[in-house]
Amino acid sequence: MKKPKLNIHQNLSAPEILNEMNIAWSKGMFRETKDEYNKVSRVIPEIEWPFFAPYIKAINILKKEMNAVILAHNYQTPEIFHCVSDIRGDSLQLAKEAGAVEADIILQCGVHFMAETSKLLNMDKTVLIPSMEAGCSLAESITGEDVRRIRKENPNIPVVTYVNTSAEVKAESDICCTSSNALEIVNSFDSKEIIFLPDEYLAMNVAKETKKKIIMWKGRCEVHEEFTPEEIIEFRENEPGVKIIAHPECSPDVLAESDFSGSTSAMIKWVKDNQPKKVLMVTECSMSDNISVENPNVNFVRPCNLCPHMKTINLENILESLWNKEHEIIIDPKIAIKAKQAVNRMIEL
Ligand code: 13P
Ligand code: SF4
Repeated sequence: MKKPKLNIHQNLSAPEILNEMNIAWSKGMFRETKDEYNKVSRVIPEIEWPFFAPYIKAINILKKEMNAVILAHNYQTPEIFHCVSDIRGDSLQLAKEAGAVEADIILQCGVHFMAETSKLLNMDKTVLIPSMEAGCSLAESITGEDVRRIRKENPNIPVVTYVNTSAEVKAESDICCTSSNALEIVNSFDSKEIIFLPDEYLAMNVAKETKKKIIMWKGRCEVHEEFTPEEIIEFRENEPGVKIIAHPECSPDVLAESDFSGSTSAMIKWVKDNQPKKVLMVTECSMSDNISVENPNVNFVRPCNLCPHMKTINLENILESLWNKEHEIIIDPKIAIKAKQAVNRMIEL
């Protein structure tokens, strides 16, 4: 690893790190960070920039010093997504890109299972997550022991596991999938039956599109399960001409009321390609903020729901995570070998 020019001390708080790096807001900093501000000026009022700019400057300096890259999921807030991240995307894109990273350190702005996936593909690198609170209701809905039991009850049936799971669960699976390739992965097996874990709604949405019998689990995304078909119908009535696009972690009834459904990146692409006058993105709130920046002629209407796990990541804990090299992802090598196979099979497909 390149020797850092900065004298990096361990365990400082974000304000202490700024102090140590001699970074404080000044009018000159507005000029210095103008390119970054221009990317988010539609969603961050200028009056708030003095709070964000010093952290953005410090993180970008530290990334270079430490030979680190930042991966950000589409649900991260705009100042993270547009101003400090190097690689952005949905779960599949992040997993694919993580495998090609050359830097020494990967800092994952996303939830824990995403950081674990990056680690699986980079066992020799340091993978950091700024907040250990960044879990996921789907990943928490199932354990490796559950998968072993389901396999016993359903012998010789392939197990397809959504990436929103722990490394331990992935290790018990034949292959992983994401929301952008779930149907393709299910259809790639000769078997007439598939065990699809753990997202019940995604499983139901896949089941509608395949001839195979899908054996499901009862996991749910706490953000997407909140949307109801009734509120979608009401929005269509109140917002004439609105296009409605939904994530497949929503219930089949919600998808039935939508014009399009796809992974977070597929939703972004749909908006870019179709340029609707008005669109409702039935998913996490930051998505609309992030893409409104590049789609100034599209009017984004609500509702949206916040993912409390994604929202535990902020500029302060990103800076602390880098400086203190804290919250390192560690995976038992025995689990990692099997889990990596399941992820790699998906990427190869
Ligand atoms: P994507 O793979 O579509 O980005 O979804 C990840 C996720 O957690 C959605 O809730
Ligand atoms: Fe998990 Fe849902 Fe949050 Fe995605 S939005 S990380 S599936 S809880």
